[in-house]
Amino acid sequence: MKDFPRIKRLPPYVFSVIGELCLRARRAGEDIIDFGMGNPDGPTPPHIVAKLVEAATKAPNHRYSVSRGVYKLRLAITDWYKRRFGVELDPDSEAIVTIGSKEGIAHLMLAMLDNGDVVLAPTPTYPIHQYGCIIAGAQVQGVPLSQSGDQFFDEMAAAVNHCWPRPKLSIMNFPHNPTTATVDLGFMKRVVDFARDNDLIIAHDLAYADLCFDGYRAPSMMQVAGAKEVGVEFFSLSKSYNMPGWRVGFAVGNRDMIAALTRLKSYYDYGMFAPVQVAAIAALNGPQECVAGIVDTYRRRRDTLISGLQRAGWPVIKPRATMFVWAPIPEPYRAMGSLEFAKFLLAEAKVAVSPGIGFGADGDGFVRFALIENEHRTRQAIRGIRQALARGVTTQARRMAGVAS
Ligand SMILES: Cc1ncc(COP(=O)(O)O)c(C=O)c1O
Repeated sequence: MKDFPRIKRLPPYVFSVIGELCLRARRAGEDIIDFGMGNPDGPTPPHIVAKLVEAATKAPNHRYSVSRGVYKLRLAITDWYKRRFGVELDPDSEAIVTIGSKEGIAHLMLAMLDNGDVVLAPTPTYPIHQYGCIIAGAQVQGVPLSQSGDQFFDEMAAAVNHCWPRPKLSIMNFPHNPTTATVDLGFMKRVVDFARDNDLIIAHDLAYADLCFDGYRAPSMMQVAGAKEVGVEFFSLSKSYNMPGWRVGFAVGNRDMIAALTRLKSYYDYGMFAPVQVAAIAALNGPQECVAGIVDTYRRRRDTLISGLQRAGWPVIKPRATMFVWAPIPEPYRAMGSLEFAKFLLAEAKVAVSPGIGFGADGDGFVRFALIENEHRTRQAIRGIRQALARGVTTQARRMAGVAS
């Protein structure tokens, strides 16, 4: 076979190692409690499903749709921004519908980047933030996420000064997957200023805008005056409305970037199935109590997991947002690294988590729990984890991890 250079740049997905082991264990009859993938388990609210069903009975909706999304959905998106963040956007030139935000992010990178371009991305990071750029031929320069905003901007400045060619684009994602880091509007203002001062384009991924707890509200970059001059922001219906399989996302902001993505997508796709777009309008314009209910479910699961881990002697920080808990590997197991520790939890506690290394080398001291198991199963998982940690590393796990017995 010939070489496929673009594919050669994509290493095998680390998460599939745990996914495979999980599948094998389940086939062998084991009950694995799965906190692996951030794949919401709840049903889509009934009024959204009803709209899909109704729209699917209408023959005109079975035709090819519009690649950038129908006007009424783009209008629903810009109205949502107005209500939610007080931001004015033009549905014709400043909004585009994407087939999930992951597709939109990857294709935006392909539309804007070329071989040799340099992109800044926080580390650790959600894989498509990095690999979307790599697929497009760009090089990614990691910027360590630090506790303080000042330090983060120092790291950004150092990266800009040391990279040649100068970075063209920077990816942001707050609330952040996987670390759950959150920021305030002041931070977003600094991002926009930094972009302007350093001639950088910003792509901000706001997938977890709604999944905020304890009074915290995630800012939109679009709330900052001048944000539209420097970048775009992505949002997704997957998490806020329990619609991951529906594949509805969108981007808003800078006209040139939206136009570039629109042009590229017009070659690639004919748009989302029209009934899905009609249902997405119902989600954005309809009652929002369902979002509050979904957030409350994640909050309860978060509290159950955090307090249970605490009791099991594994203290972790309580996240203010996202559907994840980012847990530092307990000290006695740290030398194993996150992949072997995740294998250990699977074998000994019957619990699947994502190894932090899957989000980049800086994630290797952590594992990520996605809050997709109910409270009862979360408590069951805690019992398994407590027993596994108390038993310690088995001979087999020690062998796998190269830890001396
Ligand atoms: C930060 C982040 N961005 C984007 C996505 C993908 O969302 P979508 O379902 O809209 O493609 C995810 C999914 O987990 C995510 O965590």
